[in-house]
Amino acid sequence: MDKAIEIAKPLPRLILIAAASRNGVLAAAGKIPWHLPADVSHFRARTAGHWLLLGRTTFEQMSGWFRPGQVPVVLTRQKDYAVPDGWAVVDLEAALALAEAHQAGELLVCGGGKVYAATLPFADEVILTVVDLEVSGDTFFPVMQMAEWELVEQEDFPAGGAEIPAMSIRRYLRRDRAAC
Ligand SMILES: NC(=O)c1ccc[n+]([C@@H]2O[C@H](COP(=O)([O-])OP(=O)(O)OC[C@H]3O[C@@H](n4cnc5c(N)ncnc54)[C@H](OP(=O)(O)O)[C@@H]3O)[C@@H](O)[C@H]2O)c1
Repeated sequence: MDKAIEIAKPLPRLILIAAASRNGVLAAAGKIPWHLPADVSHFRARTAGHWLLLGRTTFEQMSGWFRPGQVPVVLTRQKDYAVPDGWAVVDLEAALALAEAHQAGELLVCGGGKVYAATLPFADEVILTVVDLEVSGDTFFPVMQMAEWELVEQEDFPAGGAEIPAMSIRRYLRRDRAAC
């Protein structure tokens, strides 16, 4: 009898997408301390139609933001946490397994600070908007060990008057782990 050939399905690519100030601040007292319409457009466009992984805090803050086709997957330790049109999971492994079972090619991590920190070690790609500000805050993007990452794209946007700081959207791919 022929032995069945099992082809391992690749896990979805794990991609972090975030905006942080030059000193790594993501938020202060639950609010994002800048107003950047071009970054909002970029975030909306890149996350449209995708599976999104969010911490429970960020998910609750983004209530009403999700569009049809986006699937929120919420990390929480609460049992029976309900996610309308999405899923609650207890860890990253469960989130990846769920996305894989639904043939999602990518899982985009949308924050917040705790979830970026928990997922960065396993990420394949980071899309980081660096906001040209030094601000105080209480939620930070984790420090990236730059030897592990290759900058493959960068788009710079000038400031738009006093209200809109300059920003740079940078895309990093993880270097071959064996080479680091
Ligand atoms: N600048 C940006 O790009 C950006 C993006 C997103 C969010 N933010 C900001 O980030 C802030 C929120 O970040 P945060 O760090 O306070 O909260 P968060 O990461 O959004 O959510 C934290 C919650 O997620 C769950 N969680 C986190 N890690 C987990 C793990 N390993 N296993 C299971 N559950 C886990 C826990 O939920 P339970 O308590 O339910 O167990 C935890 O309380 C907000 O101010 C938001 O505005 C900024």
